[in-house]
Amino acid sequence: MTTPELRVGVVGLGWMGQVHARALSRLPHHYPDAPLRPRLVAVADPVDDDRTRAAVSALGFGEHVADWRDLVDRDDLDLVCVAGPNFVHRDVAVAAARAGKHLWVEKPAGRSAAETREIVDAVTAAGVQAAAGFNYRNVPAVEMARDLVATGRLGRVEHSTVRFLADYSADPDAALSWRFRTATSGSGVLGDLVSHAADLLRHVVADVAELVVDRATFIAQRREALPGAMHYEKGAGALGDVENEDYVSALLRLADGSRAVLESSRVAVGEQNRYTLEVHGTEGTVSWDFRRMNELQVSTRAEGEYLNAFSTTRFAAPGDGELGVFQPGANNPMGFDDLKVVEARRLVESIATGEPVGATIHDALSAAVVVDAMSESANERRWVTL
Ligand SMILES: NC(=O)c1ccc[n+]([C@@H]2O[C@H](COP(=O)([O-])OP(=O)(O)OC[C@H]3O[C@@H](n4cnc5c(N)ncnc54)[C@H](O)[C@@H]3O)[C@@H](O)[C@H]2O)c1
Repeated sequence: MTTPELRVGVVGLGWMGQVHARALSRLPHHYPDAPLRPRLVAVADPVDDDRTRAAVSALGFGEHVADWRDLVDRDDLDLVCVAGPNFVHRDVAVAAARAGKHLWVEKPAGRSAAETREIVDAVTAAGVQAAAGFNYRNVPAVEMARDLVATGRLGRVEHSTVRFLADYSADPDAALSWRFRTATSGSGVLGDLVSHAADLLRHVVADVAELVVDRATFIAQRREALPGAMHYEKGAGALGDVENEDYVSALLRLADGSRAVLESSRVAVGEQNRYTLEVHGTEGTVSWDFRRMNELQVSTRAEGEYLNAFSTTRFAAPGDGELGVFQPGANNPMGFDDLKVVEARRLVESIATGEPVGATIHDALSAAVVVDAMSESANERRWVTL
């Protein structure tokens, strides 16, 4: 029996658009039992340069259009990947959902919780599935950490630390791209990295109940980007203001009564995607670092022993999360793109069964509510209750 097709359109063929396309193409290699077989039909991206043309051809898209409006309501598409800059997410996602398309929306889904709620409403009204790009959930070591918390192996969680530190905007000469402007990005590191961190904390430990936040913009001005400039390119035009934050630190109280510390920076020299999560419970601790994505540091105490408990490293093995789908044995590491293949698998399952599996647009809304509350706390210099 042939597997039915899932006809895919991608909006935005930068880093994430290409990762989505590759993940969907690789789906049958890793999951031959997947209920649908993706086919890359069309991509929408206003840039028509050599880089875009090479990507369109290498990824095997049938067609490239400039305007996403010429893509979302085509009747030869089932799924639309929303992978352009933040300012197009809401419009693309709402239009595509209204046209009956399933969605794979990158984080932050909207520039604010209000925009994200508009997507949720359109998705609910249309009865389509909508996955959110919270790929760090799919790391086998993170899935192990979640299981250890959920099954009580760590006892009662007392406190956690989540730090998302990156250097991608550390160069003061880096271009004033869409990421630094309120109209095009919404918030800064809050939407970009803290949305991931908030989702991870909620997924592994508990919902955020209250928070207080400080924030800073360390590089106040940058040079304008040339059209089509990528993330890491230098600015070339006039100096303009950076309109959103480079850094936040937060104290959080979670719904289970535990406490958390969250810190995130996009300008941290020497920190390349140092995304870490530590959870401390009455019976032990888990610690994860994206730079050693396939390892989980675990310490669980023996009866009566509180001091000097052993800490061990668990290398993700087949049976831990989805590692076995990618590698035959422990410590053959998975990579970033593999996390997106897992995300694609869960979305395809959701579409085929009508039952959401994996992170959804509702999770994106929860993260957006946390991000908005963080902005409110920083603006008003006070604790905010969610
Ligand atoms: N899940 C993750 O870990 C992760 C990682 C990086 C980025 N992201 C998210 O993915 C999204 C895209 O980020 P990126 O790093 O791929 O950005 P990027 O700058 O590499 O790519 C953006 C692409 O969108 C195109 N574009 C610009 N305006 C457009 C429009 N009006 N319609 C359609 N396409 C348009 C650009 O030409 C470019 O090709 C962002 O929302 C970002 O937050 C998620």
